[in-house]
Amino acid sequence: MPSVYFQTFGCQMNVADSDTIYQLLSQRGFVISDCPDSSDLVVVNTCSVREAAEKRAKSRITEFANKKKGRNQQLWVTGCMAERLGGRLKELIKGVDLVIGAKQMERIGEVIDSVLPQNESSPAVFGKSPVTDFVPVMRGCDNYCAYCIVPYVRGREQSVPYELIEADVKEKISRGVKEITFLGQNVNSYNNEGIDFPDLLLRLSAIDGLERIRFTTSHPKDCTEKLIEAVSSSNKFASHIHLPVQAGSDRVLTLMNRGYTSARYRGLIEMIRKHIPKADITSDILVGFPTESDKEFKETLSLVRDVRFTTAFMFAYSPREGTTAASMTEEISGEQKQERLAELIAVQTGITRSIYKESVGEELEILISGRQEKRTAAWMGQDRGCKRVLLSCTSVEAGMILKVRAVESSGMTLLAERIL
Ligand code: 5AD
Ligand code: SF4
Repeated sequence: MPSVYFQTFGCQMNVADSDTIYQLLSQRGFVISDCPDSSDLVVVNTCSVREAAEKRAKSRITEFANKKKGRNQQLWVTGCMAERLGGRLKELIKGVDLVIGAKQMERIGEVIDSVLPQNESSPAVFGKSPVTDFVPVMRGCDNYCAYCIVPYVRGREQSVPYELIEADVKEKISRGVKEITFLGQNVNSYNNEGIDFPDLLLRLSAIDGLERIRFTTSHPKDCTEKLIEAVSSSNKFASHIHLPVQAGSDRVLTLMNRGYTSARYRGLIEMIRKHIPKADITSDILVGFPTESDKEFKETLSLVRDVRFTTAFMFAYSPREGTTAASMTEEISGEQKQERLAELIAVQTGITRSIYKESVGEELEILISGRQEKRTAAWMGQDRGCKRVLLSCTSVEAGMILKVRAVESSGMTLLAERIL
């Protein structure tokens, strides 16, 4: 049987896209390989969101291209960088056989069919399913935040019809999946035939066997009280809201084209905590946007201190060709950006540690995702929020939801004991 090796960079949408490509390949007889050197096909699924992500992908692709010389191996590049660079990638890196841009994911079945016609006699071969999986419900983004390449490489927003989502969920549950994270670049702007995102979530929560529901990424401008009420209506919903704030200064937020002020964002946090007092709220934060002053950066720091995110992804601004921000002058120096980033990370890390510490002694409901290989009788899981939990205990299986008590925090992981 032919084999395929996947290397996936970037966000959870890319993980879901790699999985979709794998399912199509498995219908053509392919099996997963964990060794790129001996596989018949290598697929590199790329990210474009920051320059560093592209650099990493390019160097990995070059490595694969050099290794395959003289061998009968196919090298495909997919995803956002494939969309941005298109056919140029084949000239840039000799050895790339096929480029499939992110926008082609909408019709990926046809794309794969055109290079590998389907063999009726080979049914899909699936390996063991994970406990937790992803289902995209909308793709693309219409927001055009000034710094962001996503609307250009992923295209306009498109929501998946409910019937297809439900079929996808049920198929995953039948393979043992317990928890699904519903994905979209701007997931809470989902709208299909009059079904908005809160409606979608309520329908999904009625599906038997779906035990935990997560979703990402929410945009503050579409984070309504109706959405939060839906989330607090059933304990199938994780008590975790990822709500990227990006910056704390109103002038910078306006330049970024985010569509809210710092006061409005703080109001949203209050609204979320009113309905879900124990919610883990997490965020994405960008420092060094063109013209951001030191005082404005300090406003980001004070927002971070006030809101107390459980965790946050923090980035230094990286100009992306073709975006509005890329044509703005007055770039902050690379050194200054790194200094601001380090200061922000230090503040946020302190908050994360103290939030984890505050959880010690609490009763948690964790979904066991698998073993912790390095220790004996140790299992990994996640609580209803976003916290990682390590459980030392026997007679446990992946997929179980257990009541445990947090007994210690090692900073970014809670250690827990089973409550019998
Ligand atoms: N530079 C740095 N970070 C970026 N992000 C998006 N575009 C850029 C950029 N040009 C960050 C944002 C977004 C996250 C996915 O990546 O914080 O929320
Ligand atoms: Fe990019 Fe803004 Fe769309 Fe998020 S909402 S994908 S940051 S343009």
